[in-house]
Amino acid sequence: MQFPRIRLRRLRYKENIRRLVRENRLSVDDLVYPLFVTYGNNIKKPITSMPGVYNFSLDLLLAEISQIIELKIPAVLLFGIPEKKDSVGSGAYDEEGIVQQAVRAIKAKYPEIIVITDVCLCEYTDHGHCGIIEENEILNDQSLQLLAKTALSHARAGADIIAPSDMMDGSVAVIRDKLDRQGFQNIPIMAYSVKYASSYYGPFREAAGSAPKFGDRRSYQMDFANGLEAIRETALDVDEGADIIMVKPALAYMDVIRMIKENFNSPLAVYNVSGEYSMVKAAAKMGWIDERAVVMETLTGFKRAGADIIITYHAKDVAGWIREDC
Ligand code: PBG
Ligand code: ZN
Repeated sequence: MQFPRIRLRRLRYKENIRRLVRENRLSVDDLVYPLFVTYGNNIKKPITSMPGVYNFSLDLLLAEISQIIELKIPAVLLFGIPEKKDSVGSGAYDEEGIVQQAVRAIKAKYPEIIVITDVCLCEYTDHGHCGIIEENEILNDQSLQLLAKTALSHARAGADIIAPSDMMDGSVAVIRDKLDRQGFQNIPIMAYSVKYASSYYGPFREAAGSAPKFGDRRSYQMDFANGLEAIRETALDVDEGADIIMVKPALAYMDVIRMIKENFNSPLAVYNVSGEYSMVKAAAKMGWIDERAVVMETLTGFKRAGADIIITYHAKDVAGWIREDC
Protein backbone atom coordinates (compact mmCIF):
# COMPACT_ATOMS: atom_id res chain seq x y z
CA MET A 1 0.00 0.00 0.00
CA GLN A 2 1.54 3.26 -1.01
CA PHE A 3 1.14 6.67 -2.59
CA PRO A 4 -1.36 8.12 -3.39
CA ARG A 5 -3.36 6.30 -0.67
CA ILE A 6 -0.65 6.81 1.94
CA ARG A 7 0.32 10.44 2.32
CA LEU A 8 2.47 11.09 5.36
CA ARG A 9 1.93 14.81 4.90
CA ARG A 10 -1.68 14.43 6.10
CA LEU A 11 -0.38 14.38 9.66
CA ARG A 12 1.78 17.42 9.12
CA TYR A 13 -0.65 20.04 7.85
CA LYS A 14 -1.97 21.37 11.16
CA GLU A 15 -0.08 22.27 14.29
CA ASN A 16 -2.61 20.56 16.54
CA ILE A 17 -2.32 17.33 14.57
CA ARG A 18 1.44 17.60 14.76
CA ARG A 19 1.05 17.95 18.53
CA LEU A 20 -1.05 14.77 18.66
CA VAL A 21 1.46 12.63 16.79
CA ARG A 22 4.66 14.11 18.19
CA GLU A 23 6.91 11.32 19.47
CA ASN A 24 9.32 13.20 21.70
CA ARG A 25 8.97 16.23 23.91
CA LEU A 26 11.57 18.13 25.78
CA SER A 27 10.54 18.86 29.34
CA VAL A 28 12.10 20.97 32.06
CA ASP A 29 12.01 17.73 34.09
CA ASP A 30 14.81 16.37 31.89
CA LEU A 31 17.30 19.12 32.60
CA VAL A 32 20.40 19.38 34.75
CA TYR A 33 22.27 22.70 34.95
CA PRO A 34 26.06 22.59 35.54
CA LEU A 35 27.54 25.20 37.89
CA PHE A 36 31.11 26.25 38.68
CA VAL A 37 31.76 27.31 42.24
CA THR A 38 34.87 29.12 43.33
CA TYR A 39 36.42 30.69 46.43
CA GLY A 40 36.12 34.35 47.39
CA ASN A 41 33.20 36.70 47.79
CA ASN A 42 30.92 38.55 45.45
CA ILE A 43 32.43 36.80 42.44
CA LYS A 44 30.53 36.16 39.22
CA LYS A 45 33.36 35.74 36.76
CA PRO A 46 32.35 35.26 33.12
CA ILE A 47 33.87 32.35 31.18
CA THR A 48 35.04 34.00 27.96
CA SER A 49 34.48 30.95 25.77
CA MET A 50 31.05 30.21 27.30
CA PRO A 51 28.89 33.34 27.16
CA GLY A 52 26.27 33.26 29.93
CA VAL A 53 28.28 30.87 32.11
CA TYR A 54 30.16 32.05 35.21
CA ASN A 55 32.33 31.02 38.11
CA PHE A 56 30.34 31.87 41.24
CA SER A 57 31.54 32.44 44.77
CA LEU A 58 29.33 30.83 47.41
CA ASP A 59 27.31 33.96 48.20
CA LEU A 60 26.32 34.58 44.58
CA LEU A 61 25.83 30.89 43.90
CA LEU A 62 22.83 30.91 46.22
CA ALA A 63 21.16 33.68 44.22
CA GLU A 64 21.76 31.67 41.06
CA ILE A 65 20.24 28.56 42.66
CA SER A 66 17.15 30.52 43.55
CA GLN A 67 16.68 31.46 39.87
CA ILE A 68 17.18 27.83 38.85
CA ILE A 69 14.50 26.72 41.30
CA GLU A 70 12.18 29.45 40.06
CA LEU A 71 12.64 27.99 36.54
CA LYS A 72 11.67 24.55 37.94
CA ILE A 73 14.94 22.91 36.88
CA PRO A 74 15.14 19.83 39.13
CA ALA A 75 18.90 19.46 39.51
CA VAL A 76 22.31 21.10 39.32
CA LEU A 77 25.72 19.52 38.75
CA LEU A 78 28.49 21.13 40.81
CA PHE A 79 32.13 21.61 39.82
CA GLY A 80 34.65 23.22 42.16
CA ILE A 81 37.56 25.52 41.47
CA PRO A 82 39.83 25.41 44.52
CA GLU A 83 42.16 28.16 45.70
CA LYS A 84 45.18 25.84 45.72
CA LYS A 85 46.07 22.79 43.70
CA ASP A 86 48.61 20.08 44.54
CA SER A 87 49.91 16.82 43.13
CA VAL A 88 47.33 14.67 44.94
CA GLY A 89 44.27 16.89 44.52
CA SER A 90 43.76 17.42 48.27
CA GLY A 91 41.08 20.04 47.64
CA ALA A 92 38.82 17.37 46.15
CA TYR A 93 38.38 15.46 49.43
CA ASP A 94 38.87 18.27 51.94
CA GLU A 95 35.81 18.37 54.22
CA GLU A 96 36.08 22.16 53.98
CA GLY A 97 36.66 22.09 50.21
CA ILE A 98 34.80 24.37 47.87
CA VAL A 99 32.25 21.81 46.68
CA GLN A 100 31.66 20.50 50.20
CA GLN A 101 30.96 24.05 51.41
CA ALA A 102 28.74 24.78 48.43
CA VAL A 103 26.67 21.63 48.95
CA ARG A 104 26.14 22.46 52.62
CA ALA A 105 25.16 26.05 51.81
CA ILE A 106 22.74 25.04 49.04
CA LYS A 107 21.08 22.24 50.98
CA ALA A 108 20.69 24.45 54.06
CA LYS A 109 18.81 27.10 52.14
CA TYR A 110 17.19 25.09 49.32
CA PRO A 111 16.80 21.48 50.48
CA GLU A 112 14.56 20.49 47.56
CA ILE A 113 16.93 21.10 44.64
CA ILE A 114 18.88 17.97 43.68
CA VAL A 115 22.60 18.60 44.05
CA ILE A 116 24.74 16.30 41.93
CA THR A 117 28.47 16.55 42.55
CA ASP A 118 31.12 15.78 39.96
CA VAL A 119 33.77 13.53 41.47
CA CYS A 120 37.17 13.89 39.84
CA LEU A 121 40.65 15.09 40.72
CA CYS A 122 41.49 17.17 37.63
CA GLU A 123 40.21 20.48 39.00
CA TYR A 124 42.32 19.95 42.13
CA THR A 125 45.61 18.54 40.82
CA ASP A 126 48.43 20.87 39.79
CA HIS A 127 49.13 18.60 36.78
CA GLY A 128 45.47 18.68 35.71
CA HIS A 129 44.98 14.92 35.35
CA CYS A 130 41.98 13.03 36.72
CA GLY A 131 44.07 10.69 38.87
CA ILE A 132 47.42 10.84 40.65
CA ILE A 133 50.57 10.43 38.59
CA GLU A 134 54.01 8.91 38.75
CA GLU A 135 56.56 9.63 36.04
CA ASN A 136 53.87 10.96 33.73
CA GLU A 137 51.70 7.88 34.12
CA ILE A 138 48.19 8.16 35.52
CA LEU A 139 47.92 5.56 38.28
CA ASN A 140 44.59 3.78 38.25
CA ASP A 141 44.37 1.82 41.49
CA GLN A 142 46.17 4.41 43.62
CA SER A 143 43.66 7.04 42.49
CA LEU A 144 40.61 5.00 43.50
CA GLN A 145 40.84 5.58 47.24
CA LEU A 146 41.13 9.34 46.72
CA LEU A 147 38.08 9.33 44.45
CA ALA A 148 36.12 7.31 47.02
CA LYS A 149 37.21 9.73 49.73
CA THR A 150 36.00 12.61 47.56
CA ALA A 151 32.64 10.94 46.99
CA LEU A 152 32.22 10.28 50.71
CA SER A 153 33.00 13.89 51.60
CA HIS A 154 30.36 15.04 49.10
CA ALA A 155 27.79 12.65 50.57
CA ARG A 156 28.62 13.83 54.09
CA ALA A 157 28.10 17.42 52.97
CA GLY A 158 24.63 16.46 51.74
CA ALA A 159 25.00 15.72 48.01
CA ASP A 160 21.96 13.96 46.57
CA ILE A 161 23.70 12.17 43.69
CA ILE A 162 27.41 11.38 43.19
CA ALA A 163 28.77 11.61 39.65
CA PRO A 164 32.25 10.15 39.11
CA SER A 165 33.80 11.50 35.88
CA ASP A 166 37.35 10.23 36.37
CA MET A 167 37.27 7.23 33.97
CA MET A 168 39.51 5.14 36.22
CA ASP A 169 38.71 1.41 35.98
CA GLY A 170 36.77 0.22 39.02
CA SER A 171 35.87 3.63 40.41
CA VAL A 172 32.11 3.06 40.58
CA ALA A 173 32.64 -0.14 42.62
CA VAL A 174 35.06 1.49 45.04
CA ILE A 175 32.80 4.53 45.49
CA ARG A 176 29.70 2.34 45.97
CA ASP A 177 31.49 0.28 48.63
CA LYS A 178 32.71 3.33 50.47
CA LEU A 179 29.29 5.01 50.45
CA ASP A 180 27.55 1.83 51.59
CA ARG A 181 29.99 1.19 54.41
CA GLN A 182 29.54 4.74 55.69
CA GLY A 183 25.74 4.65 55.74
CA PHE A 184 25.03 6.28 52.37
CA GLN A 185 23.31 3.26 50.78
CA ASN A 186 20.56 5.51 49.46
CA ILE A 187 22.73 7.98 47.56
CA PRO A 188 22.61 7.15 43.83
CA ILE A 189 25.65 7.13 41.57
CA MET A 190 25.39 8.78 38.17
CA ALA A 191 28.38 7.31 36.34
CA TYR A 192 30.11 9.01 33.45
CA SER A 193 30.17 5.54 31.90
CA VAL A 194 30.90 6.48 28.31
CA LYS A 195 33.24 9.44 28.36
CA TYR A 196 35.28 10.11 25.28
CA ALA A 197 38.63 11.91 25.10
CA SER A 198 37.09 14.90 23.38
CA SER A 199 38.20 18.26 22.11
CA TYR A 200 34.71 19.50 22.89
CA TYR A 201 35.79 19.89 26.55
CA GLY A 202 38.04 22.83 25.66
CA PRO A 203 35.88 25.67 27.05
CA PHE A 204 35.14 23.69 30.25
CA ARG A 205 38.84 23.49 30.92
CA GLU A 206 38.97 27.28 30.78
CA ALA A 207 36.04 27.45 33.19
CA ALA A 208 37.48 24.90 35.62
CA GLY A 209 41.18 25.60 35.04
CA SER A 210 41.61 21.85 34.55
CA ALA A 211 43.55 21.41 31.31
CA PRO A 212 46.25 18.73 31.71
CA LYS A 213 49.72 20.30 32.05
CA PHE A 214 51.31 17.49 30.06
CA GLY A 215 50.00 14.90 27.65
CA ASP A 216 46.28 14.33 27.23
CA ARG A 217 43.52 12.14 28.66
CA ARG A 218 43.62 9.43 26.01
CA SER A 219 45.03 6.76 28.34
CA TYR A 220 41.84 6.85 30.43
CA GLN A 221 39.04 8.47 28.41
CA MET A 222 37.66 6.64 25.38
CA ASP A 223 38.88 6.77 21.79
CA PHE A 224 36.23 8.59 19.74
CA ALA A 225 36.66 6.05 16.96
CA ASN A 226 35.11 3.34 19.16
CA GLY A 227 31.45 2.41 19.56
CA LEU A 228 31.25 -1.15 20.89
CA GLU A 229 33.63 -0.27 23.69
CA ALA A 230 30.85 1.94 25.05
CA ILE A 231 28.82 -1.20 25.78
CA ARG A 232 31.70 -2.76 27.71
CA GLU A 233 32.24 0.45 29.72
CA THR A 234 28.55 0.74 30.57
CA ALA A 235 28.16 -2.95 31.44
CA LEU A 236 30.99 -2.61 33.95
CA ASP A 237 29.51 0.49 35.56
CA VAL A 238 26.05 -1.07 35.82
CA ASP A 239 27.63 -4.15 37.34
CA GLU A 240 29.60 -2.03 39.80
CA GLY A 241 26.42 -0.33 40.98
CA ALA A 242 25.78 2.71 38.78
CA ASP A 243 22.17 3.88 39.13
CA ILE A 244 22.24 6.31 36.22
CA ILE A 245 24.57 5.92 33.23
CA MET A 246 25.90 8.66 30.96
CA VAL A 247 27.19 9.30 27.47
CA LYS A 248 29.45 12.30 27.00
CA PRO A 249 29.76 14.36 24.82
CA ALA A 250 26.35 14.17 23.18
CA LEU A 251 26.19 15.84 19.79
CA ALA A 252 28.86 13.86 17.95
CA TYR A 253 27.77 10.65 19.71
CA MET A 254 24.06 10.29 18.89
CA ASP A 255 24.69 6.74 17.62
CA VAL A 256 26.26 5.82 20.94
CA ILE A 257 23.33 7.30 22.88
CA ARG A 258 20.90 5.16 20.86
CA MET A 259 23.05 2.05 21.25
CA ILE A 260 23.35 2.44 25.01
CA LYS A 261 19.62 3.05 25.29
CA GLU A 262 18.91 -0.15 23.39
CA ASN A 263 21.34 -2.23 25.43
CA PHE A 264 20.61 -1.05 28.98
CA ASN A 265 17.53 -0.28 31.00
CA SER A 266 19.12 2.19 33.43
CA PRO A 267 18.13 5.86 33.18
CA LEU A 268 20.44 7.46 30.65
CA ALA A 269 21.95 10.91 30.97
CA VAL A 270 23.74 12.72 28.16
CA TYR A 271 26.13 15.60 28.65
CA ASN A 272 25.77 18.40 26.10
CA VAL A 273 29.30 19.63 26.81
CA SER A 274 30.98 23.02 26.85
CA GLY A 275 32.27 23.01 23.27
CA GLU A 276 28.83 22.11 21.94
CA TYR A 277 27.42 25.08 23.84
CA SER A 278 30.15 27.46 22.71
CA MET A 279 29.68 26.61 19.03
CA VAL A 280 25.98 27.46 19.22
CA LYS A 281 26.64 30.65 21.17
CA ALA A 282 29.30 31.81 18.71
CA ALA A 283 27.20 31.16 15.62
CA ALA A 284 24.16 32.79 17.23
CA LYS A 285 26.20 35.86 18.14
CA MET A 286 27.29 36.17 14.52
CA GLY A 287 23.63 36.03 13.50
CA TRP A 288 24.24 32.86 11.53
CA ILE A 289 21.77 30.61 13.33
CA ASP A 290 18.58 31.03 15.34
CA GLU A 291 19.81 30.07 18.81
CA ARG A 292 16.47 29.11 20.32
CA ALA A 293 15.40 26.98 17.37
CA VAL A 294 18.76 25.25 17.08
CA VAL A 295 18.98 24.49 20.80
CA MET A 296 15.45 23.06 20.91
CA GLU A 297 16.17 20.92 17.83
CA THR A 298 19.43 19.61 19.28
CA LEU A 299 18.03 18.80 22.72
CA THR A 300 14.92 17.15 21.26
CA GLY A 301 17.34 15.15 19.13
CA PHE A 302 19.01 13.86 22.30
CA LYS A 303 15.62 12.67 23.54
CA ARG A 304 14.88 11.00 20.22
CA ALA A 305 18.26 9.28 20.43
CA GLY A 306 17.30 7.91 23.86
CA ALA A 307 18.34 10.39 26.53
CA ASP A 308 16.30 10.55 29.73
CA ILE A 309 18.35 13.30 31.35
CA ILE A 310 20.14 16.16 29.58
CA ILE A 311 22.97 17.98 31.30
CA THR A 312 23.30 21.30 29.49
CA TYR A 313 24.52 24.88 29.91
CA HIS A 314 21.41 25.86 27.91
CA ALA A 315 19.14 24.60 30.71
CA LYS A 316 18.06 27.98 32.04
CA ASP A 317 17.24 29.34 28.57
CA VAL A 318 15.42 26.15 27.63
CA ALA A 319 13.37 26.15 30.83
CA GLY A 320 12.29 29.71 30.03
CA TRP A 321 11.38 28.85 26.44
CA ILE A 322 9.39 25.78 27.45
CA ARG A 323 7.45 27.93 29.89
CA GLU A 324 6.69 30.53 27.18
CA ASP A 325 5.43 27.78 24.86
CA CYS A 326 2.96 26.40 27.42
C1 PBG B 1 36.29 16.38 34.62
C2 PBG B 1 35.21 16.78 33.67
C3 PBG B 1 35.33 17.34 32.39
C4 PBG B 1 34.05 17.65 31.97
C5 PBG B 1 33.18 17.25 32.97
N1 PBG B 1 33.92 16.69 34.01
C6 PBG B 1 36.52 17.72 31.60
C7 PBG B 1 37.48 16.71 31.15
O1 PBG B 1 37.32 15.50 31.31
O2 PBG B 1 38.50 17.17 30.66
C8 PBG B 1 33.70 18.32 30.68
C9 PBG B 1 32.42 19.08 30.67
C10 PBG B 1 32.24 20.02 29.54
O3 PBG B 1 33.07 20.12 28.62
O4 PBG B 1 31.23 20.72 29.57
N2 PBG B 1 36.77 15.10 34.45
ZN1 ZN C 1 38.75 14.83 35.55
